[in-house]
Amino acid sequence: MPTLSNLAVRDIETLVHPYTNQATFRETGPLVIERGQGVYVYDSDGKAYIEGMAGLWCASLGYGNEELVEAAAAQMRKLSFSHLFTAKSHDPAVELAEKLKEIAPVEISKVFFCSSGSEANDTQVKLVWYMNNALGRPRKKKIISRLKGYHGVTVASASLTGLPNNHIDFDLPIPNILHTSCPHHYRFACDGESEEDFATRLADELEDLIVKEGPDTVAAFIAEPVMGAGGVVVPPKTYFEKMMAVCAKHDVYMISDEVICGFGRLGTMFGCQALGFQPHGISIAKALSSAYVPIAGVMIPEVMYQALITESQKIGTFGHGFTYSGHPVAAAVAVKTLEIYQRDRIVAAVAAKAPQFQARLAALREHPLVGEARGLGLVGGIELVADKRSKQSFDPKKGVAAQCVRFAEEQGLIVRFLMGDILSICPPLIIKPEEIDALFDRLGRALDLTLDWAKREQLLAA
Ligand SMILES: Cc1ncc(COP(=O)(O)O)c(C=O)c1O
Repeated sequence: MPTLSNLAVRDIETLVHPYTNQATFRETGPLVIERGQGVYVYDSDGKAYIEGMAGLWCASLGYGNEELVEAAAAQMRKLSFSHLFTAKSHDPAVELAEKLKEIAPVEISKVFFCSSGSEANDTQVKLVWYMNNALGRPRKKKIISRLKGYHGVTVASASLTGLPNNHIDFDLPIPNILHTSCPHHYRFACDGESEEDFATRLADELEDLIVKEGPDTVAAFIAEPVMGAGGVVVPPKTYFEKMMAVCAKHDVYMISDEVICGFGRLGTMFGCQALGFQPHGISIAKALSSAYVPIAGVMIPEVMYQALITESQKIGTFGHGFTYSGHPVAAAVAVKTLEIYQRDRIVAAVAAKAPQFQARLAALREHPLVGEARGLGLVGGIELVADKRSKQSFDPKKGVAAQCVRFAEEQGLIVRFLMGDILSICPPLIIKPEEIDALFDRLGRALDLTLDWAKREQLLAA
């Protein structure tokens, strides 16, 4: 058992950590991160780590960006808080909404702000229901998401999330949320099935589900362009084209959850542009402010906005909104973040760095532990397996990817493990080519150490 620092002991006695085994944590304690600069963070002993996950897929401009610090400080000095309720307004929120309308990948009418991806997706659910009431189709309420999709943890967004740990014993999902298959070719395609045929099968499955439920009861379909927390799943070729055709046929509103993929991650401003589809509504968060402050939003098309007007005429108000919807400090930081993306051509830079990143990722396929290494832009997933040929997974209880994460930390690299012994990498977008090399060198060493350990523990298939 490691010796715990004073801060670690105080932590154990005071905090509930999200996504942490509350039982084993009492023994292991936390890794305390103290400061950050560029793509590096430093722990309380001064050890440097490449933040290979940009925190939680979010710190796109890295750490210690003085322009963002200054934008926050200046706004705090000028107007630390004001809200948007009951027709109040302020400059930063309007400016941010204008900028977002300018860069949106599809025609949008308005932006609704909130503070987290979960709130954005909860708002999407509520707005879809509200819109369909306004449009006089009160039965059209079911929302389809995908197994392994990740959309957050509040009651509705956790219901959309297609991962068992977000449902078990939380009494979720709520009614009217349905899940369709995960578009992961490596795991779920039939033997010999091409990506295109797999995509056709998934679109047929979506259509069958809509028809079985009744198209007049299915309101929306929500998807991340590339799945993140569910395992970094890049959909098979032609997937969105085929899924969108089914949505169009049955008048199903399509929501692109751009919480990870938005703002350059895939080498395009929005993920839907990289995957070639045009959603009706969009959820944004994380890189919107480069995670310097919490802010998120829902991009709303005209048809939905008109429904909000209709409902306001009927009810007398729009009964939704958060204290921190469009918080001026968060909005000011987001405006500056978008300015930096444009001025420094961050998205083009991602597209230019992506081939190196993806080549180093692909090279890991040669490693004896790696079943699949997949990704797009500056995001990658590495699936560890006990047997490459049969794709046999490790016993989940052995925590192989968790062990690899610990070895990576020893090597000065932060990556994350996801369910199914998948490692995810999602570095700050500002990462330099030599830092990409350093990241993969460290990861390679961590994989080698994991292999030695797995052999000692006799975890590999015979
Ligand atoms: C695609 C996606 N949607 C929604 C969320 C939820 O965002 P938050 O944790 O800010 O509530 C996340 C978080 O990782 C996400 O990756």
